[in-house]
Amino acid sequence: VEELNEAIPAKVTGVLPTWLGGSLLRMGPGLFEVGDQPFRHLFDGQALMHKFDLKNGRVTYCRKFLKTDAYVRAMTENRVVITEFGTAVYPDPCKNIFSRFFSYFRGIEVTDNCVVNVYPVGEEFYAVTETNYITKVDPESLDTLKKVDLCKYLSVNGVTAHPHFDADGTVYNIGNCFGKNLSLAYNIVRIPPAQKDKSDPLEKSQVIVQLPSSERLKPSYIHSFGLTANYFVFVEQPVKINLLKFLSAWSVRGATYMDCFESNESMGVRWADPAAYLSGHKFRTSAFNIFHHINAYEDQGFIVVDLCVWKGHDFVYNYLYLANLRGEWDEVKKAAARAPQPEVRRYVLPLDLHSVGKNLISLPYTTATAALRSDGTVWLEPEVLFSKPRQAFEFPQINYSQCRGKKYSFAYGLGLNHFIPDKIVKLNVQTKETLVWKEDECYPSEPLFVPTPGATTEDDGVLLSIVVKPGAERPGFLLVLDAAKLTEVARAEVDSIFPVTFHGFYKP
Ligand SMILES: [Fe+2]
Repeated sequence: VEELNEAIPAKVTGVLPTWLGGSLLRMGPGLFEVGDQPFRHLFDGQALMHKFDLKNGRVTYCRKFLKTDAYVRAMTENRVVITEFGTAVYPDPCKNIFSRFFSYFRGIEVTDNCVVNVYPVGEEFYAVTETNYITKVDPESLDTLKKVDLCKYLSVNGVTAHPHFDADGTVYNIGNCFGKNLSLAYNIVRIPPAQKDKSDPLEKSQVIVQLPSSERLKPSYIHSFGLTANYFVFVEQPVKINLLKFLSAWSVRGATYMDCFESNESMGVRWADPAAYLSGHKFRTSAFNIFHHINAYEDQGFIVVDLCVWKGHDFVYNYLYLANLRGEWDEVKKAAARAPQPEVRRYVLPLDLHSVGKNLISLPYTTATAALRSDGTVWLEPEVLFSKPRQAFEFPQINYSQCRGKKYSFAYGLGLNHFIPDKIVKLNVQTKETLVWKEDECYPSEPLFVPTPGATTEDDGVLLSIVVKPGAERPGFLLVLDAAKLTEVARAEVDSIFPVTFHGFYKP
């Protein structure tokens, strides 16, 4: 799609709440080929930042490409210059054999295509992906301000695009790193809130705990983690980054990040809260892929962890090549039938490990179990909160400011039908009841929850989602739903089509 130099007005139907004033910022891919070279994977398109401004019942829409090195150099040379997640760079045909030889030894450059999310650190906003590069942006103009290398501040190879935030603005995140003896490990990091002296909070960021990788040269892929009042919850999944493949890919033309992943068929899933992990107890369960934690909290001596999982060790990203998603509907359905199947699960981790053998979970409201084995491991079985064949409840959101790390009732998610987003779902995690918003030919995005000011109930607020409706007179709109009833409050339609967006932030 083209970027917009000026915001365009939207046609509002319904009535927007008068208190709803702010900007919805979202990230996603916007450019799927450069010259005659296509990007191959859903996560490869060049990062486009979208913004809906809401003020006094009126709405405008704007978008701009991040002016990353990946984007600017691709535009300049009219070819893919930096290897993306699933798209390789090939040698520049214009270069002679000597300069090709030297660029070979310079290796593959790490991408700064920050296509996944955007969020605040201190008083600044950053677009992010999962490498060590983040991009400072102006949330008003959507201009790109600065490429920032996290390695300058923290001992990490990259961090997730899903940090957690404390009410004061402290940011927590986790990433792979090199630990002792060149083994791989995971570092949990903290970035403090805005500083009184106006200095950059990144300068004061630090590693607060390190967890060893269960396989020395193969750390697990991490997309998000859980945070309760007192605990981090880290799920070590069987999708592994093979460091040896990674290092060789660095010198082999045509290799991508996707080529460095492999599945461990026997490890299942390991869990860690640092205290239990370091004392030798390991929580374990059967294999699944995990991208998004919904919420986690402590209750009566247990940690309750709600997750969107995909069953098995086969990597779900293998099914997200653009060729898969662009196929005929029958082909899309066949591919999704072969892929790991989605489920929303609740796991419960006992903090007191007292007797071997029997179920240690005595929380009255869950059927999840945990059994301590004689070897010190604790085997977990989940309670299923939502399960329908090839229908995922994904891109979960909660009333974050009120409920993060606390007992809660409601999760909101994007309904994926064979990987295609076609509905918004509200899930009551206590009763398992669901409400659904769906409309013909409409493809929504992750619904972000915005609470009504002064709200006293958990679901008093609205959900914001960008919806694509190809073929309509105005093919894209911002949808505003009543979060309690999941009914439409208003929509703001624009004369523009949007590509998919992944994650974003509502800035009041
Ligand atoms: Fe994500």
